[in-house]
Amino acid sequence: MGNVYIIFSLILNVIHVVDCKGLRLHALSTRAQAHHDVKTLSNATDGKAVVVKPGFPLSLNFCIRKKATVTLNNMRFSNFNVTTFVNVSLDHGTWMGTYYAPPQYNWNRFFDTGRFPKKYEFESGWHVLKIEVIDRAGNNPGIALDTILFDVMDPWMDENILKCHTICIPEGSFPFKKPRFTEIASPARIEQRSFETKCAEVDNVDIPIYHPFIESYMISASMPQYNSFSNRRSENLTHCPHLPPQLWRFDDFRINASSRDIRQDGKDTIMMFYRNPEGENTFLLMFRFKLDGQSKGSVDSKIGSLLHLQFRSLPTSITVKMRYRGKHGNMSTEEIKKFDSKNLNYMWTIPDFTWTEDDYNYITLTIVSSVEVNFFVDNVRLEKRPFKPEKLVTIYQSDDVHIVVGYVEMWWLAPESMTVRLSNGQSHEGVAYIQFYRPIPWNNGYAQVFVLYQDGNARLVPITPEGLDWIPFGTSVIIGQPYTDSIRPYASITQLDIDPENWQLKVYYKDGGSVNMKLNSTYRETQVFVYDINFTKDIYTHPFATVRSMYVTEGNTDVDSVKIDDKTTYHVMDQWAALPGRSFAFYRRCISTHLTLSPDIQIDVLRSHPAPPLLQTMG
Ligand SMILES: *[C@@H]1O[C@H](CO)[C@@H](O)[C@H](O)[C@H]1NC(C)=O
Ligand SMILES: *[C@@H]1O[C@H](CO)[C@@H](O)[C@H](O)[C@H]1NC(C)=O
Ligand SMILES: *[C@@H]1O[C@H](CO)[C@@H](O)[C@H](O)[C@H]1NC(C)=O
Ligand SMILES: *[C@@H]1O[C@H](CO)[C@@H](O)[C@H](O)[C@H]1NC(C)=O
Ligand SMILES: *[C@@H]1O[C@H](CO)[C@@H](O)[C@H](O)[C@H]1NC(C)=O
Ligand SMILES: *[C@@H]1O[C@H](CO)[C@@H](O)[C@H](O)[C@H]1NC(C)=O
Ligand SMILES: *[C@@H]1O[C@H](CO)[C@@H](O)[C@H](O)[C@H]1NC(C)=O
Ligand SMILES: *[C@@H]1O[C@H](CO)[C@@H](O)[C@H](O)[C@H]1NC(C)=O
Repeated sequence: MGNVYIIFSLILNVIHVVDCKGLRLHALSTRAQAHHDVKTLSNATDGKAVVVKPGFPLSLNFCIRKKATVTLNNMRFSNFNVTTFVNVSLDHGTWMGTYYAPPQYNWNRFFDTGRFPKKYEFESGWHVLKIEVIDRAGNNPGIALDTILFDVMDPWMDENILKCHTICIPEGSFPFKKPRFTEIASPARIEQRSFETKCAEVDNVDIPIYHPFIESYMISASMPQYNSFSNRRSENLTHCPHLPPQLWRFDDFRINASSRDIRQDGKDTIMMFYRNPEGENTFLLMFRFKLDGQSKGSVDSKIGSLLHLQFRSLPTSITVKMRYRGKHGNMSTEEIKKFDSKNLNYMWTIPDFTWTEDDYNYITLTIVSSVEVNFFVDNVRLEKRPFKPEKLVTIYQSDDVHIVVGYVEMWWLAPESMTVRLSNGQSHEGVAYIQFYRPIPWNNGYAQVFVLYQDGNARLVPITPEGLDWIPFGTSVIIGQPYTDSIRPYASITQLDIDPENWQLKVYYKDGGSVNMKLNSTYRETQVFVYDINFTKDIYTHPFATVRSMYVTEGNTDVDSVKIDDKTTYHVMDQWAALPGRSFAFYRRCISTHLTLSPDIQIDVLRSHPAPPLLQTMG
């Protein structure tokens, strides 16, 4: 695996920190095997080396993520019985070095060339290193090549890119959207709040955009600038926290006079035993537990639950009384179930919005028996009740637009929801999200081009290109000033007023703010023009938009780069803290296996107030 070397160099009293990545390329590949002999040699790095004979050069493909200085640090090879010269060249012409190899009469003794004298700035993308054996003596069996070491001045280089398994393109090009406006738009600022993840379904890229005097801006979604015709769009749950319906569980324990221990399931759940709380032959089991809630982006503390109790066997009939303490602190009235040798298993239902994420939650089970309590419990467990599937309803349909509303049974911000009002007077309550579809003239289909969720998340894609059924959304943008009491930022929307034929929406936020949106979906891109911005929260400390996306490793991302003002590209995970600009293009340089055709997203500040507006808007 590649190491990251940090080299400090002192130039004119300025310390430059250069991140250089050392990577190893094996001579052995499927293609090398097809055209060259392979020797099994115990001293070779992987136990095998590739024979390069005179007249049969070995060409090694390698790739670079971005334009960077590349040094060949070492070539490891062995030579047999003939004095040999090895010529190494790049991209069909550029000479890198020629090496003299004296005979060793032992294939298994490897030489190191050490660092090659030439170093070049390589363009991003695909290169070929050619290793040629120059035949001086005749009857030359060639050399056995093991590995080549690369030093690349790019901390984001990795082995998949070096082997060209991940393909990267030069910087994308994202001209300003409305150049005529740029002179009256002062710069905005993006801030780095992203965090690392190994799960491709986590929105770990979190980049808010601030501009206290913003008047209008444009979000544009276009096809990725890389060329890929793979429409990969399945989710990848590797390394993702699994979300089982089960909240906690205790297995295999006996309840009797000597059961005094306390058991623990995970960090925050314990089960406690109390003997004879209400007299002879009674026993109390108490469960204390914590649940994640809205502040963690979870519905666990909101959704109702199911408590299951299962005995292994019962010699007599017993009653079990269940009570719980919810978010108000009072105990519920008891719910009694009768168990006997034929009915060993019961379930209690606990309603939605009972639990809290801010405190411990409690459940008690009082077991009352006619004989001394001594029973074996198979398991007791608390589960989330099952979700009902999301419901989609078409609320507007014409030659030019289809509008569909989505109802989510337990929305993560529940009981919040949106009211959607159409210009024809219809109104729909309880909506979690809204979708816009544009009819496609060339195949009688419809392309979903825009979605807006009640939490302010907007997702857009260009019209599905000819030849495909649909392309996935990827990077999303929270439009509006977010609340900051959750790890998942959100800008709660209470109402949408939609003028469907004009593709126009007025968005009303819970905090009293509002914006207008105009959608424009064309063959090349889908744009959302946001204007008439009226915010109520502090404009300096709240962003006007927030970019959410995903980055795991190069080639497994929904975004890997941000280009500012079509000038400078930054890595989306680099620690750049904050950067000014008027145009921010969130795109991928390296072809991603995740949502491959999800769009590049550009955000352009179109207009800003020339001078600060009334200072009382600073809350
Ligand atoms: C080197 O070894 C090869 C294979 O054993 C043999 O064919 C060849 O004649 C040898 N060449 C010399 C110069 O000894
Ligand atoms: C080595 O390779 C370079 C670049 O391809 C070429 O110009 C040069 O002639 C080669 N040297 C020999 C001795 O073949
Ligand atoms: C492996 O390399 C070492 C060091 O060059 C050498 O001493 C040894 O003989 C080699 N192993 C074999 C099996 O030839
Ligand atoms: C899924 O994501 C993991 C990293 O979490 C990655 O190693 C794996 O290659 C991904 N699978 C695909 C098919 O991209
Ligand atoms: C009571 O339960 C404990 C385990 O909790 C067990 O070791 C003990 O044998 C039980 N006593 C009787 C009388 O079954
Ligand atoms: C506690 O009291 C409140 C207010 O009277 C009531 O709404 C709630 O249902 C009670 N909680 C339980 C767990 O019974
Ligand atoms: C819609 O977008 C296209 C292409 O970007 C542009 O030419 C056109 O002027 C836009 N229309 C509106 C109403 O903004
Ligand atoms: C902004 O919203 C507030 C509260 O809804 C409203 O009183 C005010 O008139 C709005 N300002 C503009 C310029 O629309």
